[in-house]
Amino acid sequence: MQVTDDIAKVRKIRNRSSKLTWGFVPTMGALHAGHLSLVKAAKKENDKVAVSIFVNPTQFGPNEDFAKYPRTLEADIALLKELEVDLVWMPTKETIYPTGYETYVQVEELGSTLEGASRPGFFKGVATVVTKLFNVIEPTRAYFGQKDAQQARLIEKMVCDLNFDLEIQIMPIVREENGLALSSRNKYLTREQKEQASALYAGLKIAEQRFLEGERSVEILHALIVAHLDKDYFKIDYIKIVDSETFEEIEIIKKKAYIVLAVYLGSVRLIDNFLLNPSTFME
Ligand code: PAF
Repeated sequence: MQVTDDIAKVRKIRNRSSKLTWGFVPTMGALHAGHLSLVKAAKKENDKVAVSIFVNPTQFGPNEDFAKYPRTLEADIALLKELEVDLVWMPTKETIYPTGYETYVQVEELGSTLEGASRPGFFKGVATVVTKLFNVIEPTRAYFGQKDAQQARLIEKMVCDLNFDLEIQIMPIVREENGLALSSRNKYLTREQKEQASALYAGLKIAEQRFLEGERSVEILHALIVAHLDKDYFKIDYIKIVDSETFEEIEIIKKKAYIVLAVYLGSVRLIDNFLLNPSTFME
């Protein structure tokens, strides 16, 4: 496994095997089983696998957790080595954003709702850094988790709009035994909060059950989830049911839709989602 922070070296490695397919997993490190599932999928579907580790400053708001975001570089490298990743790129901030840097990528509509509305600048930072990472790695396929469903869709849209010659693969959410979706930010939760957080998935499953029984009203499904969350613990940022492609709010579910939510548990912001597919019926 080659580990480098140098763009020229990454390009050399990539070019050397240019006839081979490359799977790419962009990360901000603090790797967990969710990231590793992306790496495993990339390994299965490509000749070579590259992973980037870069805590991207431009996707954090001024009052967000950039400074305290978990950084576990040694453990990350050990995990990637175990999975026999071919290339790990860990660019410095100066490599990605040298002095005088002033070019940004923005996905306008999709990037302005939900996470985009709650975290101004977030998707501009994500789209910009992912564009730069793609331009250096030039992957055949890039892997993102459904955990960040809006981000994954935004990258798909950007890849289409900007004519990137690569495939986006969106892989299922990996959850703790109690249903909590894995996230590097779960490190901020106490053991008690981790138990409380299981109510999120339970709420999503209650809505799914009613959906499978035939309920298509967003108002009713939404109310079921809200009712399940104890207001003493959870402060709701948003809970919405949206079209799975545009992320626009809908009233009746006629095609694939996401339930997307963001809540605060104490000071920790958690997101989760669930895909509802009207072509799935109960036996
Ligand atoms: O999902 C993440 O970890 C980040 O948003 C990404 C895609 C690596 C861009 O910094």
